[in-house]
Amino acid sequence: MKRIAVFTSGGDAPGMNAAIRAVVRGGLHHGVEIFGIIRGYNGMIKGDIIPLNSQSVSNIIQRGGTILKSARSKEFMTPEGRKKGYDQLKSHGIEGLVAIGGNGTFTGAEIFFNEFQIPTVGAPGTIDNDLFGTDYTIGYDTAVNTALDAIDKIRDTADSHDRIFFIEVMGRDSGYIAVQSGISGGAESILIPEERQTIEDVVRTLKAGFEKKKSSSIVVVAEGDEEGHAAIIAERIKNTIDVPVDIRVTNLGHIQRGGRPSAYDRILASRLGLGALEGLLAGHKNEMAGIVNDQLVYTPFHDTITKKKEINPDLLRLSGILSK
Ligand code: F6P
Repeated sequence: MKRIAVFTSGGDAPGMNAAIRAVVRGGLHHGVEIFGIIRGYNGMIKGDIIPLNSQSVSNIIQRGGTILKSARSKEFMTPEGRKKGYDQLKSHGIEGLVAIGGNGTFTGAEIFFNEFQIPTVGAPGTIDNDLFGTDYTIGYDTAVNTALDAIDKIRDTADSHDRIFFIEVMGRDSGYIAVQSGISGGAESILIPEERQTIEDVVRTLKAGFEKKKSSSIVVVAEGDEEGHAAIIAERIKNTIDVPVDIRVTNLGHIQRGGRPSAYDRILASRLGLGALEGLLAGHKNEMAGIVNDQLVYTPFHDTITKKKEINPDLLRLSGILSK
């Protein structure tokens, strides 16, 4: 394999640039030409494919976002779109792909591989940490710390005003960011899609805090929670709780996707970027590189997208005990 292309796709995540850098510099080390595809699958379809060299990736390890840009491509979901993408790769002489992204990216990669057999290895890049086959995904640690910084600040004002705050964090179908930022921020309650908690459960917790004269309470809500978004849940609780409490809502939103990647994410991304490239060169295909128990492993795309990575129940238990 002499020419490989790398791209980022789906929601960006801090550390994606460090992963791109690892692919490019790893390619130089192994004597392979590396090309970058701009805007994920959309760029593949349009032939927006450029050569990358060592200089192209200098001074990016510390930058959030992705220098290759990202997109969620509707056209790649169609057979016609994928055929266009394949033709572009062929005309650029690309023999293998490194895909940096999440669930949607690898769903597309698996279909594409089955249709055209272009060897592809993925590196997990998503703040959601919801991919089976790796303990952590690129961007998750930074996103948790961004959320935690906001929770700490909100705690200051909540405490000054004796208020209850509902803070919504990202995680489309996953409560990882909520659990980690909630435990480290001392949240009184954490609502996630993986664990069913009713409005009545939350009211009970908050009332207990009120009766104990807690000066503030924080409820962290994952955006994918079954009971709805933080604003909806807060409204329902306002109408149910029969003690005089002042309630406010904050949605942290896309701020969680930006910013300088943490040291942890830069190292993880460097390992996974190089791991994906070297896996491809060693003959892996249709798989995602991951780190499990500090070891580099490869998991079929099919498993990464269909198997559920469970949240450690010990963490939920711990949160329940310590937040009283
Ligand atoms: O997958 C990462 C993520 O940030 C999710 O947590 C969130 O639901 C989604 O992307 C938001 O996507 P968009 O930026 O397209 O609105």
